[in-house]
Amino acid sequence: MIESVAVMSVDLGSEFMKIAIVKPGVPMEIVLNKESRRKTPLAVSIRGEERQFGEMALAQSIKTPKFAYIYLTQILGKSLDSPHVKSYLSRYPFYDIREDPTSKTIYFQHDENQKFTPEELLAMLLEYARELAADFGEQAIDGTVITVPAYFNQAERKAVLRAADIANLKILQLINSNIAAGLNYGVFRRKDFNSTGTNLMFFDMGGSGTIATIATFLMVKHKDDYEANPQLTVRGIGFDRGLGGQEFTLRLAKHLAKIFSEKNKKDVFKNAKATMKIYKEAERVKNILSANSETMAQIENVLDDIDFKVKVTREEFENLCTDLFERIEKIVHDATKSSELSEDEVESIILVGGSTRIPRVQAELKKAANKNDLGKYLNTDEAAALGAVYQAAYQSKGYKVKKFYIKDANIYPICVDFEKYVAPGETIDADASSSIRRVLFERFNPFPQKKVMTFSKHVEDFEFKINYGDMSFLSQDYINGIGSLNLSQVQVTGVKELYENHPNEETKGVKVHFRLDDSGLIRLDKIDITFEKTSTESSSEESTLSKIGNKISSFFGGKNEEPVEEENRENANSDTTHEQVKNESNQTEQASTPETKPLNDTVTNSTEPAPNSQKNATQVKSQILKENVKFKQIELDLVAIDENTISESKSKLKNIRDKEKARLKRAAAINSLEAFVFELKDSLTQDEFIKCSTSEEREKIGAKVEEVDNWLYETDNTVHTKDFQDKLAELKASCRDVKFRISEKKLRPKKLDELKDVLNKSVGFLSHTKNLTGENLPLTETEWNSLDKLINTTKVFG
Ligand SMILES: Nc1ncnc2c1ncn2[C@@H]1O[C@H](COP(=O)(O)OP(=O)(O)OP(=O)(O)O)[C@@H](O)[C@H]1O
Ligand SMILES: [Mg+2]
Repeated sequence: MIESVAVMSVDLGSEFMKIAIVKPGVPMEIVLNKESRRKTPLAVSIRGEERQFGEMALAQSIKTPKFAYIYLTQILGKSLDSPHVKSYLSRYPFYDIREDPTSKTIYFQHDENQKFTPEELLAMLLEYARELAADFGEQAIDGTVITVPAYFNQAERKAVLRAADIANLKILQLINSNIAAGLNYGVFRRKDFNSTGTNLMFFDMGGSGTIATIATFLMVKHKDDYEANPQLTVRGIGFDRGLGGQEFTLRLAKHLAKIFSEKNKKDVFKNAKATMKIYKEAERVKNILSANSETMAQIENVLDDIDFKVKVTREEFENLCTDLFERIEKIVHDATKSSELSEDEVESIILVGGSTRIPRVQAELKKAANKNDLGKYLNTDEAAALGAVYQAAYQSKGYKVKKFYIKDANIYPICVDFEKYVAPGETIDADASSSIRRVLFERFNPFPQKKVMTFSKHVEDFEFKINYGDMSFLSQDYINGIGSLNLSQVQVTGVKELYENHPNEETKGVKVHFRLDDSGLIRLDKIDITFEKTSTESSSEESTLSKIGNKISSFFGGKNEEPVEEENRENANSDTTHEQVKNESNQTEQASTPETKPLNDTVTNSTEPAPNSQKNATQVKSQILKENVKFKQIELDLVAIDENTISESKSKLKNIRDKEKARLKRAAAINSLEAFVFELKDSLTQDEFIKCSTSEEREKIGAKVEEVDNWLYETDNTVHTKDFQDKLAELKASCRDVKFRISEKKLRPKKLDELKDVLNKSVGFLSHTKNLTGENLPLTETEWNSLDKLINTTKVFG
C-alpha cells in the first residue's frame, strides 16, 4: 500500500444496500450498520427535522408512509409519464409525485415546504452508507464503487452518479452487479482458471429484477503482463427488470388483503398504513415459506382496530406466483442464446440475490438451464458488495491488487445519427434519405472501449445525435420505460475555419473520440482534426499518390457509399484491460499538438495516415498537427442539471444535516442538565454532602436546583441549546465549593499515604548513602543536603 486510504463499495439494490470496505492492512469486509446487520434497507424517512435510515425508516413507513421513501432506484431519472413511475404510484398511491418542468424528471412533494428528488433521497442514503463505512472502519472513505443492475440504461446510470455527486462521494466507477459477484467468485479461484476458459452463469434475483449473466473466466496475458491473469468476459445476458422479490411479496399481500376484505368488508389498499402493514407481513411470510411449508400471517390492528391472522402454505404462495416463476425460463434462454454457447458448455449456475432462496425459483432455474445442481458458492447477499470493493481497491491506486481483467458487454446499442453533408452547388436525389445512422457500440460490444468516428466530408459546422440504436429486441412496453431514445445532441463548430487555416495540408476529416467507460456510460472525449504537412517534393508526390489511392478506393466503395465517410474502429487498446484503459485515460491532450517526426517514426494513433515512402525516409519530413474542434453536447435523456441546481441540492442536504446536528446537540444539552439536576437533588440528601457543607449553603443550592428544575419543566422549543448549557454552568457554580471539599476529602488520605511512602523511601535512601565515600557517589554533597532539607520540611508539613 502506498497511501493510507479506505475505499468502500455500495451494492445498490432496490430493497437493500450492502456496504463493504477495504482499509490498509485489513482485507475486504462487509460493513455492519447501526443495528449490527450486514444489509441495510434502502429506505429513508423524514419527519420534520428528523431523518431515519434503513430499518428505522422502514418502521416509520408503517406509521407515516408518505414520509418514508423506498424502492428509489426504480424511479431514478424518470419523467411523470414513465411506466415505472406509474407502477410505483399504483403500489404506493400515497406519495405526491410531481414533475419538474425544467429537468422533466420527478420529485416528491414532501410537505407544504419541502420537496425531494429521488436523486436527493438516494444521495442521503449514500451519505449514510459512507458514514456507516467510516464509523465501521474508523477511517475516512476516499473512493467508492457502486453496483447497478446490468439493465440500467444511460439515464439511470447518470442519475446514480448525480446522487453520488450531491452526496460528495468520489465515485471510482459504477459496476454491473453480476460482474461484481463474478469478481468475488473469481478472485479466490485464480488458480482454477486456464487458457481455454470456464463458462459460468451468475443468476441474480433480488428485490426488483432478475439478471442472468453468462461469463467466461480464462487466463490471458496482455502486453506488459509478466504472467497470465484471469479475465472475466461477459458472453450473454438475459434479464427481466420486473421479476423480483417485490413482485412475489405483492402477490402475497394481495392474497392476504383479499382474505381480510372478505372477512371484514374493508379494503386494506385504501388505507396507506394498512397497505404498508400488509406489505411488510407478506414479505416476512414469503421469506419464512422458503424454509417452511406453512406459516401464520399475523397483523395487529390492520385497520380500525381489527387484527388479522391466517395460515399460508408454500403451495398457496407458489400457486399465486406461477406465472412469475415461469418467466425465469426466458431469462435463462436469452442469456444462453446471446452467449452462443450450448447449455452443456455452461459449467455451473451460481446463485446471487435474496430471492434465489425461494425453492421454486431454484427448481425453475434448474429446469430452464437443464442442470441437476446449482452452484451455491457465493454469499447471495454479499457477493456483489465484496466484488465491488475489490474493484474499488484496484481503482483507487492506493492498493496493490492482483489484476483481474473485465470485459463487460453493452446491452443497449448506441449509434450516431447525422445528416449527409451536401456541398454548396451539389444536388441530392429527392428520393434518397439524407439521414445517416452509424452504429457506434453494438449490442454485446465489450466495454470499457474507445471508438473513433470520422466525418471526412463535413467541412463546415455540423450536428449529430447520439441515440440508442435498434431496440427491436425489446418489447414496446420496455422501450417506453426507457424514456427518451435520444441520448444527446452534439453541435460541432469552427470546422470551416480550421480547414481554411490549413489549406495545403492533408487530413482524413473530423474525428470524434467516443468511449464507453468502465461505468457503461457513453462519453464524448474530444473532437479533433489531424492535419499532415509534408515538406519535400518527394512527400508531395506521395500525397498525390495517396489522394489518387483514396479516390480509387472510394470508387470501388460502390454507389451505395455515402458521401460522408466515417470510420468506425475499435481502438487499438480495445481489449479493455484494466491497465490499458487506465493508461489511455491518463493521457492529457493539449488543445493543439504539433509534432514533427521523421517519416519512419511510428504514428501511435492508428487512425492517422501511415507515414509514407520508406526510401525517402531520411530526407522527407512530415509535420502532424492535431487541432481540437469545439463542440457543445446537450443531454437529451436526463436533462443536464447545471452546477447551481446540484449546489442547491447539496446545500439542501447540508441544511438538513446541520439541523440534525443542532438537534442532537440540543438534546444532549437538555440531557446533561436534567441529569445534573437529578444528581444534585440526590446529593443534597447524602451524608457526604451534608458533612462538607453548611446548612445555609445547602439551602441556597436547594433553592437553585428547584429554580432550574422548574425552568426546565416550562421550557419549550424556543429555548436555545446555549440556554441549557448556561443553566448547567450556573448550577455547577452554585455547588462548586461543596463539591471541591468532597473531592478533597476523598483524595486527601490517598495522597497522604502516597506522600508518606515517598518520604519513607527517601529517608531510607538518605541514611543508606550517608556514610558512603569515594568516587561515583549517587548524589553530590549539595544534592544530598537539599534532599535532607526537603525531607525535614516535609515531615513538618505532614
Ligand atoms: N429467505 C428468503 N426467501 C425469499 N425471499 C427472500 C429471502 N431472503 C430475502 N429474500 C428477498 O430477497 C429480496 C432482496 O434481495 P436482494 O438484497 O438481493 O435485492 P436487492 O439487491 O435489494 O434488489 P435488486 O438487486 O433487484 O435491485 C427481497 O425481496 C427479500 O424479500
Ligand atoms: Mg441486488
